[in-house]
This record gives sequence, structure tokens and C-alpha cells, in this order.
Amino acid sequence: MSKEKVVLAYSGGLDTSVCVKWLQDEKNLDVVCVCGNVGQEETGLDAKKQKALDLGVLDCQVLDLRDEFSDEFLTKAIAANSMYENKYPLLSALSRPLLAKKLVEVAHEFGATYVAHGCTGNDQVRFEAAVKALDPELKVIAPVREWDLKCRPDEVAYAHAHNVPVPEGANDNPYSIDDNLWGRAIECGHLEDPWNEPLDDAWVMTKNPEDTPDTPTYTEIEFEAGKPVAVDGKKMKLSEIVIALNKISGDNGFGRLDLVEDRLVGLKSRECYEVPGALTLITAHKALEDICVEGDLLKTKIKLEQDWATAVYNGQWYSPLKNALDAFMADTQKFVTGTVRLKFFKGNCHVVGRKSPFSLYDYGLATYDRDTTFDEKASAGFIEIDTLSLKTWAKVQGPSSAAAQA
Ligand code: ARG
Repeated sequence: MSKEKVVLAYSGGLDTSVCVKWLQDEKNLDVVCVCGNVGQEETGLDAKKQKALDLGVLDCQVLDLRDEFSDEFLTKAIAANSMYENKYPLLSALSRPLLAKKLVEVAHEFGATYVAHGCTGNDQVRFEAAVKALDPELKVIAPVREWDLKCRPDEVAYAHAHNVPVPEGANDNPYSIDDNLWGRAIECGHLEDPWNEPLDDAWVMTKNPEDTPDTPTYTEIEFEAGKPVAVDGKKMKLSEIVIALNKISGDNGFGRLDLVEDRLVGLKSRECYEVPGALTLITAHKALEDICVEGDLLKTKIKLEQDWATAVYNGQWYSPLKNALDAFMADTQKFVTGTVRLKFFKGNCHVVGRKSPFSLYDYGLATYDRDTTFDEKASAGFIEIDTLSLKTWAKVQGPSSAAAQA
């Protein structure tokens, strides 16, 4: 009888290589590996595929997901100015649902009973929530929750004992890294004490602001209906725009974050991120929205952006709440078309210009000059009505009222 099958999210690193062997030996399963390229700084995908095949997997699919990640995930993240707790642009939380979707597709293709992953922390929740939403019948195996390999040296020992090749330098990197087009998350080691300043070796995508050019760099980003379409006049697809901005901003030392965030499971975690392109795009997009989105709508959108980010952080990419929020966000983007001019200098990025054919900014109304079209006389009546409730309160309960004096 043929064995049951499991589709594993495989990165080619130590964890997921040990997972392959463990699923074969301990669970008696045939393994299919899926290795997704979401723009992480990875080399040697072919070698990783060969390594999986050498371990006896049924198949190892290397998928280039960069455009799908950009067009389906980053576009929505930009529309929602994605910032969990107003500070973290959600990079890992954006890639997990796409990888989960690919796993489910491959599981269907191979008639697999299980999918498996090597995630811990928030990512395991995101991964499994996405799988359950896409196919509630598929079963999930998380080897790292089941085996008793407690630390990296345990995994290395298991690998040696079971003829799993150990990647060179498996014990060298003091950090836990997750990266994709949208940036890079750096955790663990020296960073676990929130009083410790990050060491220089934590940063890869961004220059130390002290070592950046002594003259500013200006960049223009063009948007159409909320989507970035060109940088400095050059039309590009979104994946290319993100790569180009990662470089421009990173070279100017912009995009480093050092923060403490609230994990889904209730604990606080110190995180460092490098998100040069992501922060640049969100900064520019917000500036364009400031002139293109009507004021009441903008205020409501800003509140719902937090709900969007929390839903995505918490693994609800495929959920009715997130779908409805996306529909709202999409509606707000119809007129977010125009150009934003940015100035990078020594770790900073400032918006220095914005223009749009749909701009609601009216010079005639806004000017302080005498020839303004704004009816100053109408202000008196407006203030009278607007302060009516406040005046009533002031008389009866306010600081100078009889009640307050008593
Ligand atoms: N704290 C971030 C999040 O939950 C990043 C997680 C990154 N994972 C890692 N292995 N470094 O989205």
C-alpha cells in the first residue's frame, strides 16, 4: 500500500531539512516539498531542491511567488497603510498566507492528507489559520511542536545521526531572520534584552545613517488608484518598485525599526526590522491620500487600518473580516492617483511634494492671502453653532459655573 502524503513548507535550512527526515521516519509519510521565493535574500535554490531530492522526497517544487506576493498581498498592504500597532509593517504576516495557499494547492495536486511547516510563534498560527480557511479538511503537522529537539545543537545532532546535510554556518548566525520583498525581521540573541542597542551585524538592507551620502537623494513615486506604478518616471511592476526602493532608501539609511510589539499569544517581543521600501511606499501613499481622500473618509480609514493590520497580524488573511475591510480599502483608493516627491537624507525620508489630478486641496480656499475664496464671514455663524453644546456645558458644569464654585 502506498504511503500517505504530506506537503512541507521547505526553506532548505536546518529546521525544514530535519523536518523532511522526521516526517519520513517518525510519521511514515511520503514528503512533497514546496519552496516559495517571496524575495528573501536566498541563493542556491537549486542546491536546496537537490538536497530535498537526495533526502528521498517525492518532489520539490521551487515556486517564484514574487509577483503574486506583490500584486495580491503588498498591493493590499499599501492600500491599508499596513502598520501593526502603528509601527510594524507586517512582513512575515503577509508571506505566510501566500505560502499556505501554495501548500494547499500542491496538497490537492498530490492528493496529500497533510501539510506541514517548521514555524513557531505567531507564524504557526498564521500558517494554520490560512490552511484551515482554504481547506478545513486538510490536517496540519508541526514537527517542531512534536519532537523533543529543544535547540539548534539538538537539531544538528539529529541531522548528523540521520544523514541530513547540515548547512554550512548553521550555528553561526546569532539571530532568527525572516525576510521577503517587504523587508527583514531580526530576532533573538543580543536583541532579547530590550535595553541592548542592536549591533551593526543585525543590519543588512540598510546602511548605518552615519555612513550615508552627504547630499540628499530625491525620488518621485507615481501611484494609480492607490497602486505604485513608477519610480522617477520609470514604469515598473510592483515587485521591481519594491526592490528599487529597498535600494534607494536602504542606501540612505532609512527603514530601520527597533521596537517592542505585542504577539498574538499575549507576550511582548523585542523586534528589529529593516523595511526601507515598505516604509517609503507607505509614507508616500499616505501623503497622496492626504490630498485625494475626503476628510471624513480619511478619518474612518485611519481607524480601520489598525483593524486591518491586527486581523492580518493575527492570521486572518482569509477571513470575512479581512475581506470586508479590503472592500472598504479598495473603495477608498479609486482617486488615489498622482505623484509624491521624497527627500532622503541621513536615515530620514521626508515628503516634500505631492500632486494629483484628483487633488481635493484647493489653493483658493486654503490660502491666507486676501483674495481667498473661503467665506470668512460664514465662520462666525459656524462657530456659534459649533460651540453651542460647549457653551451650555460651561454655564452649568464648567470651571466657572456656580456648580463648580460650590
Ligand atoms: N514578529 C514578527 C511577526 O510576528 C516577525 C516574525 C519573524 N520570524 C522570525 N523567525 N524571525 O510578524
